[in-house]
Amino acid sequence: MRAPVSNLPIVFENAAVHAGAVAILDQISLRIAPGAPTVLIGPNGSGKTTLIRLGMGLLTPTSGQVTWSGRIEASSERRAMVFQRPIMLRRRVSGNIAYALAAAGIERRKRSERVTNLLRRVGLENLTDRPARRLSGGEQQRLALARALARDPEILFLDEPTASLDPASTKAVEDIVRLVAASGVKIVMATHDLGQARRLAGDVVFLVRGRVVEHAPTARFFTSPTTPEAATFVRGDLVI
Ligand SMILES: Nc1ncnc2c1ncn2[C@@H]1O[C@H](COP(=O)(O)OP(=O)(O)OP(=O)(O)O)[C@@H](O)[C@H]1O
Ligand SMILES: [Mg+2]
Repeated sequence: MRAPVSNLPIVFENAAVHAGAVAILDQISLRIAPGAPTVLIGPNGSGKTTLIRLGMGLLTPTSGQVTWSGRIEASSERRAMVFQRPIMLRRRVSGNIAYALAAAGIERRKRSERVTNLLRRVGLENLTDRPARRLSGGEQQRLALARALARDPEILFLDEPTASLDPASTKAVEDIVRLVAASGVKIVMATHDLGQARRLAGDVVFLVRGRVVEHAPTARFFTSPTTPEAATFVRGDLVI
């Protein structure tokens, strides 16, 4: 069998994304390496979602380049993403996962066991037959995580997976993220929750107005940020 191609590291070299005359991302030079989760933080509109879409290969930079393990390619094999507002298929919980498994090319006779395993992994095994659209927000996020894991990704992008969740649901999602990361999957996650960044991140990428203002190991970012913007953000003051 062919060895699966690797996606890591993902290297952004002076990458920019423009919409007309507006630079949504500018001069992004960044290396996303294997290891503990990389967490993206920054104010609303700073470019976190756009950076994730670039890293997924859903978007091509207007200038500069993004490479996956040295390759420029559009194939999204072994990359998966959970969107900021995931959309549930009008099916049962199990049907949502079965669909993702089919899309990932898993043969029919293997799907039911995989569905069970994935639901167990995200703690939804008791809701197998519930229509997915009737799940709570937290349960929908966990189902979206299970669907993404159905692709057996090497790298998983999460766009604010706990944005509107209460502490218990947030903890449930963070526990899954920890387990997935411990199993060797590279997590790249956007969040507004600084506590979450401290709890989960190996390194922090801080964006302001489309630029990477700081990229540092988590402890260093929080104890001794080197830019005034990061220091302000870490204090909990508004960065505008
Ligand atoms: N296709 C587009 N055309 C024009 N502007 C866009 C487009 N996509 C994104 N933008 C703008 O680019 C900026 C960055 O958006 P992005 O969604 O990446 O930010 P974000 O950091 O994820 O914000 P949030 O924290 O609110 O999710 C925003 O001002 C947004 O309105
Ligand atoms: Mg966003």
